[in-house]
Amino acid sequence: MVGSAIWNALKNKGYENLVGRNSKELDLRNQAAVQEFFAIEKPDVVIDAAARVGGILANNNYPFTFLMENMQIQNNLIDTALNQNVDKFIFLGSSCIYPKLAPQPMTEDCLLTSSLEPTNEWYAIAKISGVKACESIRKQFGKDFVSLMPTNLYGPNDNFDLKTSHVLPAMIRKFHEGKINNSESVTLWGSGLPMREFLHVHDLADAVIFSLENSFTENLYNIGTGVDLTIKSLAEMIQKIVGYKGEIVWDSSKPDGTPRKLMDVSKMANQGWKAKITLEDGIKSTYNWFLENEHSFKEVKI
Ligand SMILES: NC(=O)c1ccc[n+]([C@@H]2O[C@H](COP(=O)([O-])OP(=O)(O)OC[C@H]3O[C@@H](n4cnc5c(N)ncnc54)[C@H](OP(=O)(O)O)[C@@H]3O)[C@@H](O)[C@H]2O)c1
Repeated sequence: MVGSAIWNALKNKGYENLVGRNSKELDLRNQAAVQEFFAIEKPDVVIDAAARVGGILANNNYPFTFLMENMQIQNNLIDTALNQNVDKFIFLGSSCIYPKLAPQPMTEDCLLTSSLEPTNEWYAIAKISGVKACESIRKQFGKDFVSLMPTNLYGPNDNFDLKTSHVLPAMIRKFHEGKINNSESVTLWGSGLPMREFLHVHDLADAVIFSLENSFTENLYNIGTGVDLTIKSLAEMIQKIVGYKGEIVWDSSKPDGTPRKLMDVSKMANQGWKAKITLEDGIKSTYNWFLENEHSFKEVKI
């Protein structure tokens, strides 16, 4: 999702000399293959949009995979980029690097101040090590390595496989299937009470290009809208957009995750960047994309 959005945004802005690989062409867990790729392509700038990504269920069932693969991917990219004298590196982490009970909205300063949310700590610890790797390179070598921490993302090319998807695409799919099958009710995970923030992936791509074209003085920047809502309100918004008329049942035997997760986005705003796409407009366009592509969705296995 993120890689293709950044790629398309770069192309739309007129960038031409782009080099990208999918996991079949280049397995980023393989250090020798990454080193060979860098030696041949000699990139000036690297944007790391690759990761092993998934929701609560996937993180819970595959802790080692989430910890190890994410560290392998980012370590190989960051270390090789440093050794190959890459001018600029953009590392994408996630808001789950911040503590479970971080003061809200979460500033970049709350990193490592208390315990992580246990359901995704494997992924979070890998991402924190990526942030620290970039920070230490900035400190030790004075290179422009930047870490951007997006909030929950959604948009075209999201994962709609219910076994591994995040909450927003899972809701789009469940309400859509509920509508098509005339189901009396749709069951959603948790209590509906946690609060979350969502950013359209096209806004993230815009933030990445902004970060590419501007030099920042520090390493770590939150990327979000700065606005959150309850999961229940999100469900009602998606239900309305999809046009599902049945009932919503909340399965509170399933985990809620962190009670609230809202980014403080003032540091990035001070640099001159703000999100532009409203949640309602973003969900409408994402649902249209879903309808155009629902027959070509892949199963996303971990
Ligand atoms: N989705 C979100 O809500 C969200 C929120 C905050 C941050 N982010 C961050 O954004 C980045 C991208 O996430 P996404 O949502 O775009 O996930 P995604 O759609 O699953 O994309 C992940 C990409 O990583 C590639 N990849 C995975 N393992 C690889 C490997 N061993 N070698 C090479 N490539 C590999 C995949 O390639 P293939 O397709 O070829 O397998 C895929 O293109 C991640 O760093 C994630 O932490 C995402």
